Amino acid sequence: MIIAIDGPSASGKGTLARALAARLGYRHLDTGALYRMVGLSVMRQNIDPADEEACAAIAASLDPAAFADSELRGEAVGNLASRVAALPKVRQALLAFQRAFARRAPGAVLDGRDIGTVVCPDADFKFFITASAEARAKRRFLETPGADLAAITADIMARDARDSGRSTAPLRPADDATVIDTSALRPDEALAAVLDRIAAGR
Ligand code: CDP
Repeated sequence: MIIAIDGPSASGKGTLARALAARLGYRHLDTGALYRMVGLSVMRQNIDPADEEACAAIAASLDPAAFADSELRGEAVGNLASRVAALPKVRQALLAFQRAFARRAPGAVLDGRDIGTVVCPDADFKFFITASAEARAKRRFLETPGADLAAITADIMARDARDSGRSTAPLRPADDATVIDTSALRPDEALAAVLDRIAAGR
């Protein structure tokens, strides 16, 4: 069983994917963390994020166990992640790991931008989680101590534009995805909507 959860930054997809996997007893992969790991490595090794070959080499030799989650958060790493994520060879280098993760028993929930469209086009269920830019910026603001709301809003909008506008695996709902707008939903309400859809079957 493979469940794909895609959506823009701070849409609530990560929280939802984690809760859904825990509820169903499945494994969960935050694929954005993989792109963030590439972004952080590029930053630490002083590599030009436009150098596709060098970034792809980093993506191909990632050791996910070498990164602490706390190092990967933050808009600076998120922005770099979104820049390297636009490079086709970086995406290609991360594909096999994601697909292998998805196939392992007992089932998997993957969240990202292109799970339903590219990584797992045959997923059993596909969800596209979205929310207004204002709601998403406010969420990020509340979870980031000392943050500036205007700067976060600008970052989110720039990242949306880059993720949706790139030619390789752009952010968009799969044709057969269920779209859920979480602007006015609490996390438990979003989870309930997804569980209802799954209970209704394919
Ligand atoms: O948590 P947030 O939504 O802010 O970002 P994330 O899911 O950690 O992803 C960081 C960046 O990685 C995104 O802005 C995308 O550019 C990229 N990404 C992607 O291209 N494809 C994915 N499957 C996941 C993330």
